[in-house]
Amino acid sequence: MSADSQKTFYLETFGCQMNVHDSEKVIGTLVHEGYRQVQTVEEAGLVLYNTCSIRDKAEQKVFNRLNDYKKYQKQGKKFGVLGCVAQQEGEKIFERAPYVSMVCGSASYKNLPQMLVQIEKAQIEAGKPLRVTGLDDRETEDCFETEFTARTNPHRGYITIIEGCDKFCSYCVVPFTRGKERSRTSESVLAEARQMADLGYTEIQLLGQNVNSYKDPAGKPGGKKTFAELLAAVGELPGIRRVRFTTSHPRDFGRDIIDAIDAVPTLCDHVHLPVQSGSDRVLNAMQRLYTREQYLERIAWMKAAKREISITSDIIVGFPGETEEDFAETLSLLDEVGYDAVFAFKYSPRPNTPSLALDDAIPDDEKVHRLEVLNVRQRQIQTASYKKYIGTISEVMVEGRNEARAQWIGRTSQNKTLNFTAPESAAPKLGTYVPVRATVSFPNSLLGEMVV
Ligand code: SAH
Ligand code: SF4
Ligand code: F3S
Repeated sequence: MSADSQKTFYLETFGCQMNVHDSEKVIGTLVHEGYRQVQTVEEAGLVLYNTCSIRDKAEQKVFNRLNDYKKYQKQGKKFGVLGCVAQQEGEKIFERAPYVSMVCGSASYKNLPQMLVQIEKAQIEAGKPLRVTGLDDRETEDCFETEFTARTNPHRGYITIIEGCDKFCSYCVVPFTRGKERSRTSESVLAEARQMADLGYTEIQLLGQNVNSYKDPAGKPGGKKTFAELLAAVGELPGIRRVRFTTSHPRDFGRDIIDAIDAVPTLCDHVHLPVQSGSDRVLNAMQRLYTREQYLERIAWMKAAKREISITSDIIVGFPGETEEDFAETLSLLDEVGYDAVFAFKYSPRPNTPSLALDDAIPDDEKVHRLEVLNVRQRQIQTASYKKYIGTISEVMVEGRNEARAQWIGRTSQNKTLNFTAPESAAPKLGTYVPVRATVSFPNSLLGEMVV
């Protein structure tokens, strides 16, 4: 293997936007350390997986990948596991996959440069088994901030405002894989947003497992911002045209967020507010800390906003003890809210979580059935609601081009996909904003033509 190929890496990312953004930071850090990113495992000296553990299937994916590629270990390739499975399984990964050299949870990414040096040294002293872990600072107060973030999209980008989660919903691994909640200072978030605006970014998405519990640690008296104030401040930066945020937790979702959306036009008219279940009994067993009624109160705030706010959600079906009646309440909630998108999952028992002790009594085929029923119902709701947009004009950001269909890919402020055609003479540039009239509706997207 040439010295050059030893300094190459391949990185595959699983999981949520937090992981996608962490990977941007990891890539930036590696490139700063003199590594070059390649697009295939075959070309790479170092193969990294940034992993997700939210459901069992997600966790199995990484072990399948490692298994597929272990043959390359003989050629001197090194394997590293990052992210939530790394944090959850720790050194046990070396037992399950002995050819892995590095295991590093997200709270330890700041140690990556030193870990890479150890890996390089081992490549020089070939044959030495190498095991590096970066898991000892799970109790960290720090957020991983780096100036080397390698954002792939030049128009819209993520900024982490809060890491970890203190909610401990009874089914969820995140508090164990991402540690406790810690917020960045609003000064540092705003400085990053300003820098992005200067570089030409127009859309910013603020990230956290629970952005509504953001607590500004800034020491300056009077300088602390609430989440809604931070949102407004990012939206008011010159050059910023769209601000999104995810994920919100109903318990911590305040009315001031709606006031901010009303007051600042750059704040997108879309809220992702996962409900998980429509039944109070199940919500209680999930330790979600709100009732159906309290959830619907927040929906009512959104429906009273000046602009129509698009609402989306996550739902878990087949939680231990979920009866037919409980499930029917979830279905009726779908009707009542009228979501624009729902991400529904079968309950998956996860390590360390309190609900692991409950009997996972709902058989898989019943979970599959409920998931199907729910998705069919939601599809009907969306089929009807997307029709409403036919004939209306929305501003979209031009996100790409589908050559096969001769269409441009656009996204509205409500986060809806609105693809469109445009005359060749007026072909829009990627990353710009153009008005589009919707002409056809589907259950998940719209099609239209650019208004010229
Ligand atoms: N912090 C966010 C999202 C967490 S993970 C929130 O509080 O909503 C994204 C989604 O995965 C969750 O909203 C939930 O619907 C789903 N999920 C989490 N743990 C799960 C599990 N054990 N089984 C099935 N789905 C799960
Ligand atoms: Fe998991 Fe609940 Fe935290 Fe969301 S709020 S990350 S579901 S523990
Ligand atoms: Fe998965 Fe970790 Fe995100 S478990 S959903 S990658 S926080």
